Amino acid sequence: MKIIKKVDWSGLLFFVNTIHQGNCMNLMKQISDKSINLILTDIPYDEVNNNKSCINRSKYKGQLRKYHKGIADELTFDLDLFMKECDRICKGSIYIFCGLNQAGRLIDYFKTEREKDYMARLCIWKKTNPTPSNGQHLWLSGTELCVFVKKRKTKFNQSCKSNVWEFPSGRSKVHPTEKPLELFKHLIKSSTDEKDLVLDMCMGSGTTIVASIELNRNYIGIELDKEYFEIAKKRIEEHSQQSTLLPLTENSKVN
Ligand SMILES: C[S@@+](CC[C@H](N)C(=O)[O-])C[C@H]1O[C@@H](n2cnc3c(N)ncnc32)[C@H](O)[C@@H]1O
Repeated sequence: MKIIKKVDWSGLLFFVNTIHQGNCMNLMKQISDKSINLILTDIPYDEVNNNKSCINRSKYKGQLRKYHKGIADELTFDLDLFMKECDRICKGSIYIFCGLNQAGRLIDYFKTEREKDYMARLCIWKKTNPTPSNGQHLWLSGTELCVFVKKRKTKFNQSCKSNVWEFPSGRSKVHPTEKPLELFKHLIKSSTDEKDLVLDMCMGSGTTIVASIELNRNYIGIELDKEYFEIAKKRIEEHSQQSTLLPLTENSKVN
């Protein structure tokens, strides 16, 4: 049976195959160096609502809030510190869906400062069904960016595949910036094997975790927002009932 546990802040216990509600910048400190095979995350792009005073969290309680990108999009951490933490805990690959400015900074860090250890590629998710909004005035918004970096000499289960991933945008939308499950499964399969450990520290509705469960990967999920955490928890519990917990390998232990 899978354990879904909120962090006991006094004990600061961290378990594989659990999800946690809290700030990833605090929780990542509990993860030991080079312990994660794959980081697959979708950080707040910080683009929808740059005027922070406009984001009134209480205003979006309940149904309406689920569709408001302002909160899901609000960057709550320092990107430089975030990438240094990713670098410290990862021993394999990292996919970070992000905004344009963030992509530049991430590529710059991994391709210049950390070039000795990493290979980096800017990738694109091409939506095969872009939302037809404002189409009379400008091109539809049919792409999103993802920075992919990989430690040299680590696994890559693809060969000669394009950095443009074509997948439809999902219609379920339990979270305002929910990513398609099939896209995330494709990325997990491309960069991990069964029983590897996958981390999403900005999990939103838990797409990475559901994909990991379906593919027999171990996982850790973190989400700051209580409402999104509850949505992820419900979604993961539904999936967990259909799969069995993997025995942990030494490889996937988090100390
Ligand atoms: C772009 S959304 C992720 C959506 C997700 N990929 C999905 O499919 O549902 C980013 C998420 O990061 C969360 N977040 C923002 N700051 C965070 C932090 N410091 N720690 C953990 N989660 C955070 C937001 O609440 C939001 O749900």
